Amino acid sequence: MKPIWIKHASQLITMEPGLTGPRTGSGMSELGIIEDGSVWMESGKVIRTGTTRQLEREFENRVQEAEVVDASGKLVTPGLVDPHTHLVFGGTREEEFERRLEGASYMEIMNAGGGIHATSRMTRDATEEELFEQAYARLDSFLKHGVTTLEGKSGYGLNTETELKQLRVMKKLNSVHPIDLISTFMGAHAVPHEYKGQEEAYVNLLIETMIPIVAKEGLARFNDVFCEKNVFTPTQSERILEAGKRFGLVPKVHADEIEPYGGAELAARVGAISAEHLLKASEAGRQAMAEKGTIACLLPATALYLREEAANGRRMIDQGVAVAISTDCNPGSSPTVSMPLVMNLACILMRMTPAEALCAATVNAAYAIGEGEQAGKIEEGKQADLVMWNVPSYQMLQYAFGVNHARAVWKKGVRVV
Ligand code: NIG
Ligand code: FE
Repeated sequence: MKPIWIKHASQLITMEPGLTGPRTGSGMSELGIIEDGSVWMESGKVIRTGTTRQLEREFENRVQEAEVVDASGKLVTPGLVDPHTHLVFGGTREEEFERRLEGASYMEIMNAGGGIHATSRMTRDATEEELFEQAYARLDSFLKHGVTTLEGKSGYGLNTETELKQLRVMKKLNSVHPIDLISTFMGAHAVPHEYKGQEEAYVNLLIETMIPIVAKEGLARFNDVFCEKNVFTPTQSERILEAGKRFGLVPKVHADEIEPYGGAELAARVGAISAEHLLKASEAGRQAMAEKGTIACLLPATALYLREEAANGRRMIDQGVAVAISTDCNPGSSPTVSMPLVMNLACILMRMTPAEALCAATVNAAYAIGEGEQAGKIEEGKQADLVMWNVPSYQMLQYAFGVNHARAVWKKGVRVV
């Protein structure tokens, strides 16, 4: 394979790879910008970053071997990381979109057997091949929008067979698709119909049957719970997350999305790697997250789509919480694959700066799924996941919204878009 040499990027954003760990406060604005930037990639790895002049000097004798990419007038960033998706699902729910516009709430629809339950029925009915094909196409769209690493959750099976089916589909996708796919078990996404009135029995099924199998088969890294009024209580959520921990599954929490419910506090208490949504998180909960180093995974596209006020990202950053952002791609509350849109919404709806939004979609997103040492930066000696954008600066990327500016994508040093 020929080395690839990117030259003359108007801005090369390395994300300051010398810094380790999730970024907080002013650390979220440390982008490691190199003007007239250049990257030499070889054997899937970043070999050198610097100015075009520096690399011209260093690789003087090897110019002939390389495939040269002229990035004049273009921005080059790390591949984006989407740390929260419900990637694998059957069917769509466009009729609910209309019902919500007419005034029905997300929870009303779900409690009446729609929402997550509707997708669960369609996911149970779909074959493994159908789910694979649809999710594969979705991953292709993510890639075209600059995403090179992504987390996906189960949670539309709500029985052992279908939860495992979703996780197997993700395992297969990870092995054949360029995107690195990290799996999360989310059997605690809703209490399925057949367990209505016997919620504790479903919690026991999760703890005694599903979690042990998922862990034994190595099908997931994380265990996520929808801790929400009329879904799983904080007490039930804690039992499920603690059970996962005994099997090596790291906790995540869908927390305080619809109502304040102590989800942020729970995430900090159980040592979750991240808490998601947090629209209604309390000040004390956010403080606990800052103290425990729980990453806030904020989903402004979901807030927009549900016509809710977005989480207070600005306040969280000022409080010292490490903030990541994500599409939450799912067929109900956020049917999008666009991380560039999400970065823009992080600026507009949560008053994050363009620099913070980029950090939240790269470094902090990678740490939120345990990939901080592999992804989210352009680092010498590490895998070469890069995007070249049709804009000259990261500010322009966030400013000119609703457009997919991704021009080229490299995953592990191979051009995939
Ligand atoms: O993160 N809030 C819970 N789960 C998903 C939505 C799932 C669905 O509506 O299908 C979320 O928004
Ligand atoms: Fe979600």
